[in-house]
Amino acid sequence: MTKNESRPMKAVILYDSMSVGGSTDRFIDAVGLELAKSGAYVEKARCRQNGDYSFIDEFDVVVMGAPIYYLLVSSQLFGALSKSNLKQHLKGKMVALFVACGSPEPMARLLYLPQLKMNLEKPVILAERVLSPDQLNDPATASDFVVEIVGSYQKAPKP
Ligand SMILES: Cc1cc2nc3c(=O)[nH]c(=O)nc-3n(C[C@H](O)[C@H](O)[C@H](O)COP(=O)(O)O)c2cc1C
Repeated sequence: MTKNESRPMKAVILYDSMSVGGSTDRFIDAVGLELAKSGAYVEKARCRQNGDYSFIDEFDVVVMGAPIYYLLVSSQLFGALSKSNLKQHLKGKMVALFVACGSPEPMARLLYLPQLKMNLEKPVILAERVLSPDQLNDPATASDFVVEIVGSYQKAPKP
């Protein structure tokens, strides 16, 4: 069980995708299942650019990511980071980041992950991934991601 003192880790998965039931949705579900198997309490929320993100204060860890469409992080997550109170509530938070894309990893690390990271103030990044469509569909990808998240969380100083 993943614990902060005596209680399970609370994680929320914030994501967006233009597809419903697509590769991102399936990946999110697999990540949620793996987190739950590790003993964590997990919720997921699809981003809305005008949403109120004060609820993330209740969570120890935010897993956040989306696909890339036309060189940009999917619009509702991108919009939430620039237009809503999400950025404010992510300040100092423990986060795990992913982007899903068809581009080669070196290019994606240069162009896409920074679209998430530039909106984070004093983050503690537990894990980060650039994922191809093939990797998204491989159950081992979600499992590896969660192993790293949980391991880093256990080592991180707690607020
Ligand atoms: C309309 C469209 C535009 C895309 N644009 C890009 C892009 O600019 N760069 C990239 O690396 N991948 C791009 N992709 C690939 C997607 O990011 C990738 O297939 C992702 O896994 C899709 O996630 P989804 O199944 O949740 O929609 C694009 C895919 C689509 C359908």
